[in-house]
Amino acid sequence: MSARTSPESYSQPEEDKSVLRVWGKSPLQGQVKISGAKNSALAIMAGALLCPKDCHLRNVPTLVDVSRMGEILTALGVKLKRNNDILEIDARHIGQSKAPYELVSQLRASFFVIGPLLTRLGVARVPMPGGCAIGARPVDLHVRGLQAMGADVQIEHGTVHACIPGNSRRLKGARIYLDYPSVGATETLMMAATLADGETIIENAAQEPEVVDLANFCRAMGARIRGAGTNTIVISGVPSLHSVDYSIIPDRIEAGTFLVAGAITHSEFSLAPIVPEHLTAVIAKLRAIGAQILEEGPNRLRVIGSPERHRATDIETLPYPGFPTDMQAQFMALLTLSDGDSVISETVFENRLRHVAELSRMGADIRVKGNHAIVRGVPMLSGAPVLATDLRASAALVLAALAADGQTTIHGLQHLDRGYDNIEGKLRQLGARLERAQAENVDPAMFQLQPK
Ligand code: EPZ
Repeated sequence: MSARTSPESYSQPEEDKSVLRVWGKSPLQGQVKISGAKNSALAIMAGALLCPKDCHLRNVPTLVDVSRMGEILTALGVKLKRNNDILEIDARHIGQSKAPYELVSQLRASFFVIGPLLTRLGVARVPMPGGCAIGARPVDLHVRGLQAMGADVQIEHGTVHACIPGNSRRLKGARIYLDYPSVGATETLMMAATLADGETIIENAAQEPEVVDLANFCRAMGARIRGAGTNTIVISGVPSLHSVDYSIIPDRIEAGTFLVAGAITHSEFSLAPIVPEHLTAVIAKLRAIGAQILEEGPNRLRVIGSPERHRATDIETLPYPGFPTDMQAQFMALLTLSDGDSVISETVFENRLRHVAELSRMGADIRVKGNHAIVRGVPMLSGAPVLATDLRASAALVLAALAADGQTTIHGLQHLDRGYDNIEGKLRQLGARLERAQAENVDPAMFQLQPK
């Protein structure tokens, strides 16, 4: 996969004037409930477009991104009914095949609707999602895979126009090799293949648990899929699918974020539900630096932060089952206080070290060289006003604030609300001291990092 320069302009979520004030150094205790997985819910909501009957989803998290995906499905003619963590999706009558730009540009996961729309309707018009804070986020692997399955795909004026030529209205099974094990491309092509004519083999497929969850959801609708969770997925197309009642897996990244919260505050508390094998790399690294992670039951973990400073370690983000890029920022916050030097290499996205500047404002000692960050542990962080730049960077700033001396004010909360279901309520319940408030008039200059 060629490195890409990230775009200067990207669609920033609308400005949020509220701030999160965090007073550091409160020990955490008790237990925290982990919500359903954001990246499963978004893919499965797209997959619901394949279902011509009743689709009943359970354990759906309450997140801005889930609401946005709901708006996109509604714009396509889908009827949705939400009742707490249950989402009823009625995609019997999809009114049209064009997803609106103003919604797609705010949620790149909405691009995943292209596979289900195309294979269900024979046509799909989905705006290019565009880049975001962490990278250019191209969709060439999605497009090339659909073309391999017989789709005619043109990109005009920023919109991907896909259709199935001829009278068949069915994609054809194909053997597809992904140049990179892209999660989204694997999910788009797997969904497209469920109703294709013949067998599709996706090689070098992504193995993330959310891919497996989507495959299990599609199989629950009658799709024939084997090998999800390995690097080769085989899908035998069927003429149609049926109604489904499905529960989404727990969010491994939310769980990983809370494990780091326990370590960085040297606290002890439990987390449930959780699937420990979804977090093997993160748990291994936490143990390597001196935190204890105990299994308290089939889907329950207990985190015990080290009584002393944690040790340093090196991190390299990789496709699953490697260390997840979505946990890189959070783990960096933890390593800023470790005893020694840590090297963090971000290999998945080309611009996912933007949290370094903000952690430095809190006293962290981090040098960036290309896609590597060299973190020299410091004895303490101090509270400061900071600005979140993307979803996981905002989580990293919350974690750093929990350990910092004094008060931290976090701006840019629209990022946090995209991907965490009531994180401040859950942290408060564990004993953290934090509150959401309206920002006084903010002088943007205060975010200019003072030269070292
Ligand atoms: C999914 O994004 C997740 N989002 C991301 O989570 C996660 O970081 C990422 O997978 C990697 O695990 C959802 O599932 C909604 P990719 P996705 O396609 O599918 C390149 C979060 O914080 N690529 O695996 O967009 C791409 O540029 C979010 O929850 C191509 O070159 O990720 C990137 O460098 C952030 N061409 C790499 O592959 C393509 O056609 C990995 O991207 C597609 C991707």
